[in-house]
Amino acid sequence: MRIAIKGMGYVGIPTAVILAKLGNDVTGIDSNRERIFSLANNEVPMFEPGLEELLKQYGNRITFTADNSALNEADVVYIAVGTPSKDNGSVDMQFIYSVAKEIGDGIMKDNVVIVDKSTVPVGTTEAVTEIIRERLNQRNLSINFEVVSNPEFLKQGAAMKDSMFPDRVVLGYKNEWARETMLPLFNGGNVIIVNALVQLFPHHDIWQVSRELKKINPQAFVNPGLGYGGSCFPKDVKEFAAFFRANGLYSSLIESIEEVNKIQKGLAVSVLKEMIGNIEGKEVGLLGLAFKANTDDIREASSINITKNLIEKGANIRCYDPKAMNHFLKIFPNIEYCSNFRNVLDAEIIMLLTDWEEFHAVESGDLKNKIVIDGRNFFTEEKFKLTSGAYRLGKGSNQFSTLEIERICNRYMDVHDAYGAQLIKIAEFVGANAPDVFEGMMLDKRIGKSYFNNPESVRFKNCSLYDILKI
Ligand SMILES: NC(=O)c1ccc[n+]([C@@H]2O[C@H](COP(=O)([O-])OP(=O)(O)OC[C@H]3O[C@@H](n4cnc5c(N)ncnc54)[C@H](O)[C@@H]3O)[C@@H](O)[C@H]2O)c1
Repeated sequence: MRIAIKGMGYVGIPTAVILAKLGNDVTGIDSNRERIFSLANNEVPMFEPGLEELLKQYGNRITFTADNSALNEADVVYIAVGTPSKDNGSVDMQFIYSVAKEIGDGIMKDNVVIVDKSTVPVGTTEAVTEIIRERLNQRNLSINFEVVSNPEFLKQGAAMKDSMFPDRVVLGYKNEWARETMLPLFNGGNVIIVNALVQLFPHHDIWQVSRELKKINPQAFVNPGLGYGGSCFPKDVKEFAAFFRANGLYSSLIESIEEVNKIQKGLAVSVLKEMIGNIEGKEVGLLGLAFKANTDDIREASSINITKNLIEKGANIRCYDPKAMNHFLKIFPNIEYCSNFRNVLDAEIIMLLTDWEEFHAVESGDLKNKIVIDGRNFFTEEKFKLTSGAYRLGKGSNQFSTLEIERICNRYMDVHDAYGAQLIKIAEFVGANAPDVFEGMMLDKRIGKSYFNNPESVRFKNCSLYDILKI
């Protein structure tokens, strides 16, 4: 099969490699010529474990180009361009619409299937179909084509595994958008729930709760952290909130997700300020910059907020990340970049921001007489024994009682139910079939009771996450 893929980014490149591995004739098209040049030389322009090896193996089956003429021959065209957020939180669709025009100007074969892998708002399939039809009309060309939605759920850092062995494949039919809209909310919602707990109970051991939550929902990521980042979840939440606002469905619960995250991103610096008072003139060493380990992506990473904040307060920053420094340099050209993590350890204050494996080599002696802020609760307890001050995120010394943990777990389920209630609300709003949506949520096993079994949860619609989680 001849396949053209528009957009060679974090999603497009793994898709191209896997489709080539499956024996297809693939053309990867990107308007960024520098990117195309690297790919044509078997160099992956971002860090993703395993990707470069597969590219070397199957790259000879892929043509990388900035030219759209491959669309003429394509049986299938994938759309994998970016969909960033606008200032008001809604999705910037300019890349999708440009690609739709280019597809309409390029396709020639009858029965072409256009597969949308980008994360897009409801109504996009129709809009893309309309644009393509218009361009074909202008060319006086009458060919059959179908636009389908096949949203990508890969996680950066595990993209190859997730693409080859996906835990779900969604191929769009009418009500499917609601499920796919909801998944990021459930996934990211878990992180934000534990982070809200960190803020509500700053002196408690939140990891105690995380362990219990994992028993309820083994797939969930419930480790406290410095705030979520990356290219997907932040923009999905913004879009979700913007959709609610734009349609008169204001939801304090949805709005509070971003609020909790914003506060979480400021936490490391406010904790430091509390510990030492004046930050001006202090040497701060940052271990890790990427929004999570095993990726070079710094989009919406907490490290950006932390660095800005520290610079404003007059700190001198040195940093190290095994993969993300090139990207960081573009935003912060005037801080010091170290060639290895050991050089960061010379600073008087150490902040661990990303849980890269190699940081396990830091020893307690390296942290002697230092102020250490461990934003991931990454270092083992004994590493702190010689420090002059330490903060381990979510690892306060107070313990919750069994009863308190049970109450928090119940509230966690309530939040999930309330998310479910929000989804049903949107589903009804756009005329989707609520029971179908509900069935999808149950299939995903992300929620326990559900709004349908627990219509009570609707009482949370005007609550913030903090209100629900206060016990
Ligand atoms: N990154 C992830 O982990 C992830 C996971 C799931 C879904 N998604 C979604 O997938 C989509 C793509 O995300 P990404 O992270 O791969 O984006 P990206 O920014 O890494 O890549 C997008 C690429 O599209 C190219 N492009 C833009 N306009 C083009 C055009 N007209 N023709 C050809 N190329 C063009 C850009 O040059 C860029 O290389 C987004 O909607 C995103 O939300 C991403």
